[in-house]
This record gives sequence, structure tokens and C-alpha cells, in this order.
Amino acid sequence: MIVVFLGPPGAGKGTQCNFICDRYALKHMSSGDILRRERKEGTDLGKEAQSYMDSGKLVPDNLIVAMMMKEIQAADDAKGFVLDGFPRTIGQAEALDNAMDKAGKKIDVALNLQVDDNKLEERVTGRRSCLKCGASYHLVFSPPKVENQCDKGCGQLNQRSDDTSETVRSRIATYHEQTSPLVAYYTKKGNIADLDGNAAIENVTKQIVEVLDKV
Ligand code: AP5
Repeated sequence: MIVVFLGPPGAGKGTQCNFICDRYALKHMSSGDILRRERKEGTDLGKEAQSYMDSGKLVPDNLIVAMMMKEIQAADDAKGFVLDGFPRTIGQAEALDNAMDKAGKKIDVALNLQVDDNKLEERVTGRRSCLKCGASYHLVFSPPKVENQCDKGCGQLNQRSDDTSETVRSRIATYHEQTSPLVAYYTKKGNIADLDGNAAIENVTKQIVEVLDKV
């Protein structure tokens, strides 16, 4: 199964991907996580991506497409995968479709997680994550058992450098300008499922399971 996850920053893509990947044995491919890894390792790509990420802008298509194609090829043996945060422009979506055509594969469904703009800032600025195990928390909606500590005993939680109010507003604007046209793109292809992402985490999960159980 090949799934594309669409949605603005803080919509809950990463949160739901953790669940989907466990339940359906899929590989989670998050373009944001891969970019953060490249930054941590100090690679040329990581250095180039830094200023775009810190200002809430998109990293240029040519860099992202090359990076994601490498990941997808490496996942060839996996049962399937979920693309979280990619594609994010029409150009990226077309590049992905070309690659899928060449490989004789298809995107089964694009999950479109819809959340009102006024909820996104609170979700993003309250997010804390564990750099060791990748677990994600929210100060209000999904708090750790002990303040600022990972429930799995990994230690202190981290706040992403691009999770400030100012950058979040820029990321939301970028989403509306450059990524939301993908909703029409996948609607035209007839493989999109709209989900109410304003609901509580477990209710969003239920909606996703209803869609994916039919794929
Ligand atoms: P990326 O890391 O992909 O960030 P994003 O798309 O902005 O998405 P987020 O990770 O912020 O949100 P999410 O939807 O995963 O929310 P989460 O589940 O964590 O990208 C970062 C940057 O990298 C971009 O700005 C860009 O510069 C660059 N980049 C990445 N991909 C690119 C591409 N393809 N092209 C070009 N540039 C690219 O949830 C958020 C919080 O809310 C959590 O605390 C969670 O606990 C809570 N929460 C989740 N669901 C709910 C719910 N239903 N109710 C209440 N709280 C909830």
C-alpha cells in the first residue's frame, strides 16, 4: 500500500503516521524528519535546507525530489510506505507520479487531513518530541506522564526550532499558497480521502482506519 499524507503544519500527520505504520506494517517516510537528520549530520543538503526551514519556506523542489526518490528506492522491499510531508508542490507530485509510473506502482490513496487554521498554532507550539525514540507529545492534548520527560525513559523532550509562533504562521501561509493545490490535483485523480483532523487524535485514527481497511 502506498499512501500520501496531506495536511497543514500541526494537522497531525506525524502522530497518525506512527499508528498507521504499526497497524499496516508500512514504512514511514517523513520529508521533514529526513531534512532534520541531514541538518544534524551537517550534510550539504542539511546546510542548504536550514534557512528555508527556519523561515517556514519550502526547500526547493529539485533538492527534495532527489532526496525522496533515494528514500523510495531504498524502500523497494518494504510492504508499502506512507509519504508524510511529500509531495508539497504540484512539481513534486508530478515527479512522484512519473517515478511511480516507471516503477509500475501507484499511489493508493492521498489522505487529506483538514484542520482549521486557528487550531494549528496551538498544536505546533505545544508539541514536544523525543529525539531518541521519535515519540511525539503535546503539552495539553497528549502530555508526557512526567513533565518534559519521554514516557519511554529516554530523557528530556525537545522543541523543534521551527515550532515558534512566527515560523508556524509562515508555514501555514506557505501551505495555503503552495501545498493546498494538491487537494485539487488528487481529487482530479480520484484517489483522495478527506478527513476531519479537528477531531480528537483517536477519532482521526478511526477515520483513517475506515479508509485504509478498504484499500
Ligand atoms: P515537516 O517536518 O514536514 O513539518 P510540517 O508539515 O509543518 O508538519 P508538522 O510536523 O509540523 O505537523 P504534523 O502534521 O506532523 O503534526 P503532528 O502530528 O506532529 O516540515 C518542516 C519543514 O521542512 C518545512 O517547513 C519545509 O521547510 C521543509 N520541508 C519538509 N518537506 C518538504 C517538502 N516536501 N518540500 C519542501 N520543503 C519541505 O502534531 C502536532 C502536535 O499536535 C503534536 O504535539 C500532537 O501531539 C498534536 N496533535 C496531533 N493530532 C492532534 C489532534 N487530533 N488533536 C489535538 N492535538 C493533536
